[in-house]
Amino acid sequence: MKKIIAANWKMNKNRAQARATAEELASGLSAGKPADRTVMVFPPFLAIAEVNTVLGGRAGTLVGAQNFYPAESGAYTGEISLAMLADAGASWVLVGHSERRHVLHESDSFLAQKTQYALRQQFGVVLCIGETLEERESGRLSDVLTRQIEQGLSGVLGMSKSLLQEKLIIAYEPVWAIGTGKVAGEKEVLEAHALVKELLGKQGDDLSSLPVLYGGSVKPANAQALLGLANVDGLLVGGASLEAKSFLNIINA
Ligand code: PGA
Repeated sequence: MKKIIAANWKMNKNRAQARATAEELASGLSAGKPADRTVMVFPPFLAIAEVNTVLGGRAGTLVGAQNFYPAESGAYTGEISLAMLADAGASWVLVGHSERRHVLHESDSFLAQKTQYALRQQFGVVLCIGETLEERESGRLSDVLTRQIEQGLSGVLGMSKSLLQEKLIIAYEPVWAIGTGKVAGEKEVLEAHALVKELLGKQGDDLSSLPVLYGGSVKPANAQALLGLANVDGLLVGGASLEAKSFLNIINA
């Protein structure tokens, strides 16, 4: 399976900055993208169309959105629909990112609703899960990942396995490693990814073949080692994806 390298730009970059980064990425990718990588970029909403103009047509490069509201249209002030995102060129969405869970207080049931809704609308979903430091230190890693996976996937188990394999990716991101510079150690990544695969195996008709990405302080210096670990099918990168050079080094790791 091709390794998946995803960039989450969060609330950074105006349209011109996003376009410039996308152009630098496009020329770097043309100069020597390894055949075994799928690249995803999640810009802020207003830059999706710009980034799509540059990267959208490239084979193996996908553009997505960081959020959406699970309704077709209507009285949802401040929200954005999948149809609007598709119009701008997005075909994937992030769901359950720790900042949506912990800063914006999205619940497991709302995230389940969003996951189901996006897949029904033919969008791909990167469903993010991960424990806080307090949850890990109090021995609740397994409980938290079990809850997030069981509830997050509760609305999609009736969907065809081939659709899920094509359109659903899990990202394990320990909350304590996001934006902190503290990358999870090899033992912690191996343990968590094995657990995630085991839990996925118990969902529906065995979803253990879904790709599982690692995220949390991924840098050019640690990307290769992380990609070499068992059950790590790719990386979700925040801070180190903001500069094209650094993200290209991760893609090429
Ligand atoms: P980080 O963010 O790479 O800056 O730690 C990862 C993420 O939030 O997806």
